[in-house]
Amino acid sequence: MTSRGPIDNLGIPPLAGLCTYEEACRVGFDVDANVNLLKRYNYASRRLHESLVAHVPRTPEWEVKCAMGLHQWILAEHCAWIRRRVSEMREPPLHLDQCPDPKLELWMEETIRAESTVELLTGIYSVGIPELIETYQWHLERTNPMIDHPTCRILRLMLSELESMATWGKQALSAIIRTESDATSAKDWEDHVRAYLAEAGGIAGEPARFAAAPLPTPRSNGEPYEMDVVPKRDARFTDPYNQSALIDEYYKDESRAPDERTYALLYKRLREMDVPEYMAPIIFKTKGKPWEYYADLGRQLWDETRHAMMGEVGLYQDGVPFYRYPIDLKTSLTANTQLEPLQAHLILTGIELSLMPKKTGKRFEWVIAKSSGNDLAATIQDYDWADEVLHAQIGRRWLVPEFGSLEKLQSAYDELWPRWWALSLEKRALSEQKEWWSEFLREIRASKLAK
Ligand SMILES: [Fe+2]
Ligand SMILES: [Fe+2]
Repeated sequence: MTSRGPIDNLGIPPLAGLCTYEEACRVGFDVDANVNLLKRYNYASRRLHESLVAHVPRTPEWEVKCAMGLHQWILAEHCAWIRRRVSEMREPPLHLDQCPDPKLELWMEETIRAESTVELLTGIYSVGIPELIETYQWHLERTNPMIDHPTCRILRLMLSELESMATWGKQALSAIIRTESDATSAKDWEDHVRAYLAEAGGIAGEPARFAAAPLPTPRSNGEPYEMDVVPKRDARFTDPYNQSALIDEYYKDESRAPDERTYALLYKRLREMDVPEYMAPIIFKTKGKPWEYYADLGRQLWDETRHAMMGEVGLYQDGVPFYRYPIDLKTSLTANTQLEPLQAHLILTGIELSLMPKKTGKRFEWVIAKSSGNDLAATIQDYDWADEVLHAQIGRRWLVPEFGSLEKLQSAYDELWPRWWALSLEKRALSEQKEWWSEFLREIRASKLAK
């Protein structure tokens, strides 16, 4: 490097504090090269998002479902940021829905074919996410930090989220790898998907980073992946089709004590894990929508996961583990196995629109929690209410054009509702319907008093 003349910056950091003059002299990627790379990042993020969504129902471990709910949304947001950046660089966003490299597609077609939680977490958190992290770091070291600042900014924002995701993944994997056979399965699956990633030259398409290795026999036969839509829960959960507690009535029942009505609301939140399970096939099976559709529904899926976690924390506050009493699965089982994705979305949107009236809907739930003196429950209901207003907007945004008008949407919902309700009630046969609510109530009250 030749010495360059001194510059008087009045002691103030120059170049908006982004970098030194020397760093700003880096030639970096030209616009076309940058756009080509960003398209690969978009594709990898989109397919990792999709792999997580596809496995939400079938993954039994509650805590894994929680993180999948968050991470699929983060990846959907990353796609939205990358797409916006590409659209700023002389490129019509239209091309962003195409696969930029068939070899990347082969990698993702293997990743999504994980057959267990160990394999799923291995493919996503030992291979996919670490590869995104390495690639974004590699990109930041090469592009011009000042001239290409808008790209650098999103890469750094994405990196910080991806690093948290990788940390969670590492901890979760070390918890669920319990036997020699789990460890072998993780190692074999990591080698399997990594071989396909290497064949693509990594997400950036840089073959020099990888040693050449023969490709293992693929699981994919070239046909589209069929997701397993049947919802599952792990061994801590019992009697998942027990509908004996009429929670939706208990919280409205003025003859019940304020704390019971609020516990019914918290249980209603806890039970919401069936909504992410219910939404996953809608997102996975609905193809060809603008990216905003997947980003909106991905956000809603995450909110519903959060609502279940709010219930989890609401019970924890008063000393009851969230898995001790039945958490009903009828809604996700019925929607996923007996409705088409558009019908399932219609039912979801119809329910959310019905939660908007002031006297009976989400505001009413918040008033109940607030007046019971359970301050955490009031916060939970306050944010749940805000989220549901957003969901009603999301439902209107995507379904009104499908049905032609809000009135037509409403009448399609009214027409489908009786069949939906009858199908849901049929799931009663899957349980003995043993009464448990009074025992739950006794335990949570006793545990609260003991504190
Ligand atoms: Fe919700
Ligand atoms: Fe919702």
